[in-house]
Amino acid sequence: MRRTGTSVDPLWYKDAVIYEVPVKSFCDGNGDGIGDFEGLHSKLDYLQSLGVTCLWLLPFFPSPLRDDGYDIADYFSIHPSYGTLEDFKQFLDAAHARGLRVIVELVLNHTSDQHPWFQRARSAPAGSPERDFYVWNDTDQRHKEARIIFVDSERSNWTWDDEAKAFYWHRFFHHQPDLNFDNPVVVTELLTVLDFWLDLGVDGFRLDAVPYLIERDGTNCENLPETHAIIKTVRAHVNKRPSPPLLLAEANQPPADVRAYFGDGDGDECHMAYHFPVMPRIFMSLHLEDREPIVDVMERTPGIPENCQWAMFLRNHDELTLEMVTEDERDYMYLAYSMDPQGRINVGIRRRLAPLVGNSRPRIELLNALLFSLPGTPILYYGDEIGMGDNLYLGDRNGVRTPMQWTGDRNAGFSKADPAGLYSPVINDPVYGFPAVNVESQESDNASLLHWTRNMIRLRQHFKVFGRGSIDFLRPANTKVLVFTRSFEGDTLLCVANLSRTAQPVELDLRAYAGATPVETLGYTEFPPIGELPYFLTLGPYGFYWFELQRPHG
Ligand code: NOJ
Ligand code: CA
Repeated sequence: MRRTGTSVDPLWYKDAVIYEVPVKSFCDGNGDGIGDFEGLHSKLDYLQSLGVTCLWLLPFFPSPLRDDGYDIADYFSIHPSYGTLEDFKQFLDAAHARGLRVIVELVLNHTSDQHPWFQRARSAPAGSPERDFYVWNDTDQRHKEARIIFVDSERSNWTWDDEAKAFYWHRFFHHQPDLNFDNPVVVTELLTVLDFWLDLGVDGFRLDAVPYLIERDGTNCENLPETHAIIKTVRAHVNKRPSPPLLLAEANQPPADVRAYFGDGDGDECHMAYHFPVMPRIFMSLHLEDREPIVDVMERTPGIPENCQWAMFLRNHDELTLEMVTEDERDYMYLAYSMDPQGRINVGIRRRLAPLVGNSRPRIELLNALLFSLPGTPILYYGDEIGMGDNLYLGDRNGVRTPMQWTGDRNAGFSKADPAGLYSPVINDPVYGFPAVNVESQESDNASLLHWTRNMIRLRQHFKVFGRGSIDFLRPANTKVLVFTRSFEGDTLLCVANLSRTAQPVELDLRAYAGATPVETLGYTEFPPIGELPYFLTLGPYGFYWFELQRPHG
């Protein structure tokens, strides 16, 4: 079997395992109660030993933090709570020295209302170049077809500005005015931002909220051709670099619309895009104990250019979004995964992985096995490798952004500060609290989720086919079992997963592989060779197998 590639491979992102980490939440190096680059730097050994190969850092720029840093006030610096540019450089060099890549956020759709561009714009005369950095109108009646995204907190995509005596456009919070991408100077300024971070050595960018760059009358102002033209400009710009950075699109859209963010031809927009359509359907399949939601959405997902890759995820720093499912599906998802109305926000569920699945270890393992075996590059959310919980009493999405739980000591070993001074309380309930769930205790427990996760990352990294291969679904009669093969350059893996809480038999038509021997990859156990007859397997509750199909030599 082909092993994963070297670090100089331009397609490195296809073989990557990405770890999403908010600097603020990971480790506090200077004891002020807020995580920082010094702390993150000190935990690189942990990340390396976990086996992840790329870190995705949430926004760490100067910001009033009214949307946790997605409201940027200065694109060229570091929020003082997180350290200095020098600290960032030292962290980046240390990450690179360990072979870890680092991707950062490019929040290009909007800025904070505290950004000097907006402060300048609101006081500049209407029609002036300064005013023209943002999107203004005399009334709030334009672009009515555009949905409101943060439905729990915003009533309109327009907000009146008393100083400008005009309404400004914003797709997210009212304190996040949208930049005007019809103004070429705005595009040039953002290219300067890209260059700044590229010169420092970052390996890529997550393009936040990328469908909303351009507005046009009579449209829903999403995925417009003019928006794609801007992304093509960004790609062409970064392509001038000797080793172009990764561009990762955040576009929460139906399959065909997400596909568009890879661009045309050989892929002239983003290298990667999150597979938003499949994420909720993994949870739907688990709840229904039926493979159909996953198979259906995967088969509706258009092909992507050779050098492109899906980004797969189960959870992240936002709510588990249900925007892209039907109303009926949304209803049963809320019932299944968030009986407590406190867990709902906007159109989604603000919970971490472990609480979503009732802290069931078999379900956590099954979902991770799917994350690691479906086509694409997996992204793990910090803390999910130890089964951290959430805190529904914290507002907005802060309940899933609590301090990383390192030890059973004060502040979960996250910080030496007075507990009252932490940026957020640590989780301290009897089930998920830091005395019960922490890295240190899981390191010394061979049966822990941490060891399991580490082992699965290693196993996945052993087979290039996971990151690069095609997928074919089998359709055995038992619909509680999801079965697919992954193939790449003559190698084939057979993945079988029981989505139900009870043991299941399955009969597979594997005649195409007659003569091959399935070798179970976790134990390297040979199963009986495949012949012309149906191949029988039984799976325990939520059980799964990854088989290497070894063909006879000669
Ligand atoms: C998507 C980010 O993931 C989310 O956290 C943020 O609030 C919005 N974009 C607005 O930037
Ligand atoms: Ca600190």
